[in-house]
Amino acid sequence: MSPRREILRTDARSDARGEPDGATGPGGSHRGDPSGTPEAALARGGGSARRDVDPDVLEQEHVLEVGIRPRHLAEFVGQAAVREHLEIVLEAARRRGQPVDHLLFAGPPGLGKTTLAGIVAAEMGAGLRVTSGPALGRGGDVAALLTELQPGDVLFIDEIHRLNRAVEEILYPAMEDFQIDIVIGKGPTARSVRLELPPFTLVGATTRTGLVTGPLRDRFGFVEALELYALDELELIVRRTARLFGVECDDAGATEIARRSRGTPRLAIRLLRRVRDFVEVRGSGAITLESAVEGCRVFGIDELGLDRLDRRLLDVLCVRFAGRPIGLTTLAVSVGEEPETVEDVYEPYLLQAGLVMRTPRGRMPGPAAWAHLGIEEPGGADAPAWMPGATDTLWS
Ligand SMILES: Nc1ncnc2c1ncn2[C@@H]1O[C@H](COP(=O)(O)OP(=O)(O)OP(=O)(O)O)[C@@H](O)[C@H]1O
Ligand SMILES: [Mg+2]
Repeated sequence: MSPRREILRTDARSDARGEPDGATGPGGSHRGDPSGTPEAALARGGGSARRDVDPDVLEQEHVLEVGIRPRHLAEFVGQAAVREHLEIVLEAARRRGQPVDHLLFAGPPGLGKTTLAGIVAAEMGAGLRVTSGPALGRGGDVAALLTELQPGDVLFIDEIHRLNRAVEEILYPAMEDFQIDIVIGKGPTARSVRLELPPFTLVGATTRTGLVTGPLRDRFGFVEALELYALDELELIVRRTARLFGVECDDAGATEIARRSRGTPRLAIRLLRRVRDFVEVRGSGAITLESAVEGCRVFGIDELGLDRLDRRLLDVLCVRFAGRPIGLTTLAVSVGEEPETVEDVYEPYLLQAGLVMRTPRGRMPGPAAWAHLGIEEPGGADAPAWMPGATDTLWS
């Protein structure tokens, strides 16, 4: 989700030599530069005013994610359906000796879209080029990128819903027929030249499928929606990452961190880092149930993975408006946030956890919100029609 992500080239084959994955870093330049190491980045602290539970990638995370991303499908935890589809599609392409069909991954931030793009390249033994919708400002940018591709390469475009029309129109024939038309010169002497491209695989990622235009979406052979992860899957991710970090973490500690990660691997890994910091400085260095609980408490993450801002939203809904439906804008203004931020960042998990409900009349606290805040739900026989549980009577 970083608009500053640069175009860079990596060769997934380097994985066989056990080299770190530079594909998704902001330039892969951390090698040999101590200030760019994961530990140095940690030492600089959060480095961002953003929330620990915001699933969007934080600035320093590009560096931190290097080396812990699964490189092969077998290491990728969860998303069973997506994995099965990919196994078949990749194997079929390998047998035919052709590149894989173009793939589109959709889903909230931090669920593994970029990781899957890297896996596709590694599994096919192909090169990977990484860019993003906002980085491809002009048609010429994408034309230059496409003409440099090697046969079989994987071109990953993150935030593909943010491509502009001119760039999209160059992509259509490139995806369909592996050719592009470029205009050389200006005015009456301008002429169009058709360039053949090597066969390649475009992998797109988007957090908002609804914003990918129909013609673009139709040109993908395979569109997969990623789901929030189940608790046992997140536990596996926490244990795997703890092993990679070389930090001791028992099963109860891993479960506790997983439970507070809002179904999102990126958050599970981030929370694991915070708890690791905590146990190294204040504890025995090992993550247990007690130290995980205490570490999360210190960093303000409650047992559902909510932070202060989430709790303020619930407070506005349950206490200030006493469970009455309110508009998104009112809700956002009450907590001092933009409506889009509330909708894209805070709400997905709150909705999924039954803490917030979206109704035709506005946002209301979900049944779980009252219990979570430890306050009694107003209601009962003489509850007015807007109260939770009374929706049916209102619409009948
Ligand atoms: N299934 C998984 N198994 C293990 N680790 C995972 C899995 N999915 C994601 N991760 C880890 O979570 C982090 C975030 O994943 P990734 O960057 O691929 O998410 P994303 O969907 O591309 O997010 P964004 O939309 O912000 O770009 C990475 O560090 C990756 O290692
Ligand atoms: Mg990504």
